[in-house]
This record gives sequence, structure tokens and C-alpha cells, in this order.
Amino acid sequence: MLSSTMEKALNEQIREEYYSSYLYLAMSAYFESLDLRGMARWMRTQAQEEHGHAMKFFDYVFERGGTVVLAAIDAPQVTWASPAAAFAAALSHERHITGCIHRLVEAAAAEHDHGTVNFLQWFVKEQVEEEATAEPIARRLEKIGDNMVGLLFTDRELGSRGA
Ligand code: FEO
Repeated sequence: MLSSTMEKALNEQIREEYYSSYLYLAMSAYFESLDLRGMARWMRTQAQEEHGHAMKFFDYVFERGGTVVLAAIDAPQVTWASPAAAFAAALSHERHITGCIHRLVEAAAAEHDHGTVNFLQWFVKEQVEEEATAEPIARRLEKIGDNMVGLLFTDRELGSRGA
């Protein structure tokens, strides 16, 4: 059985993951508007992954006899100054999520809720991967700036995600 504190914290993480999905969907729409279809596809795949993350928390709350209470999701930003700025924002968001996951681990450990600590380990590993994936793309786009050849090359490369 989850403590009410842990149940509330896990519900809050469901909201965070859905917000992440919404944010990446907004980035996908932004890239569509620039005709950068590869980046749009990359962000759409990312949005779907975030939906999957939310559902892992959703299922876990039920598995532990808790109650899921869905909260309102804020509207995400809809445009960015450049592709580099969008990917920098995605990386910064992933760092925020890493912080959320670490705080959840610490809260579960403080309660000696070993089941939740164990459940969260998948997310600890996932966050290492999420940051490691976003970081080099953000760095590369920063260097590319508005060089169209570089942007189109990167767009084609990112479009192969999930293909
Ligand atoms: Fe669900 Fe990208 O963190």
C-alpha cells in the first residue's frame, strides 16, 4: 500500500510526464511549421514515449492499491526562436524531469518504500539515456545555427528515429 504522500507524488509525476508529452508534441508542430519533417517526427516519437512513461506511473499506482487523480496539464510554449533553441529547451526539460525522478527516489527511500524505490530505477536509467540523447543534438544544432545545409542534414538523420 502506498502512503498518501507517495501516492500524491506519483500522481504529480503522471502530470509531469503528460506535460512532457504535450511539450514535445508542441515542438513537433513547431518543426512541422518549419518544414523540418525529420525533427517533427523525432519530437512526435518523443511525445509518444512520454505518454508511455505516464502510463507506467498510472499502472504502478493501481498495482500498489492507490488511486490515480489526473490533474490539469498546462499549455506548453508553441514556438521557439530556432531549432537549436527548441532542442536546448528539450534538454533543459529532461534535466528538470531527472530532478523530479531523483526527488521521488529520495522520498520513497525516506519512507522505506522499497517497492517504489525499485520501480523508479527504470526511470533513473531512462533519464540518463534521455539526457545523453538530447545533449549532442542540442550541441550540434547550436553550432549549425541557421546554416540550411547543416539543418537539412540533421533533419534527415533525426527523421530515421523509430523507422
Ligand atoms: Fe519521461 Fe523524457 O522523461
